[in-house]
Amino acid sequence: MTTTRNRVEVMHGANLDMLASRDPEHYGNLSLTELEGRISGWAREVGLNARFFQTNHEGEFIEHLHRVPETADAVILNAGSWTHYSWAIRDALELASVPAVEVHLSDVMAREEWRRFSVFEGLVVGAISGKGPDGYREALGVLAGELGA
Ligand code: DQA
Repeated sequence: MTTTRNRVEVMHGANLDMLASRDPEHYGNLSLTELEGRISGWAREVGLNARFFQTNHEGEFIEHLHRVPETADAVILNAGSWTHYSWAIRDALELASVPAVEVHLSDVMAREEWRRFSVFEGLVVGAISGKGPDGYREALGVLAGELGA
């Protein structure tokens, strides 16, 4: 018997619920809901099923990652500024033990120095930044390949 591994948990961290109010030069004009709608469609195109989670609370983000082994086959995460300092979230992602791609809407390498470092380095199968919403489409392609979807 073969089971389909096609469940992708798309996780957004601190301040990403405020996407529509953030600097459009870095983050564009979409609301998080609109972004999630696009991601859903792109996921279907490559045979994946995307589910969404957002929180402004680090512990909730960690606990959601704890549930991933039961609920998802892969993760796309935009952890916002936690990306740059939360070793606790790195540990939780490692525990989840599923293929993960890190996405940033803005070009983190071209912004302030503190945004250039990611705690997820070496743990994720891909890191995409500066491509706006299309970065999520690219991440879905990477995961479709990983999962053989
Ligand atoms: C971000 C980049 C982070 O540096 C920032 O703290 C965010 C959003 C992005 O999507 O470009 O909140 O992850």
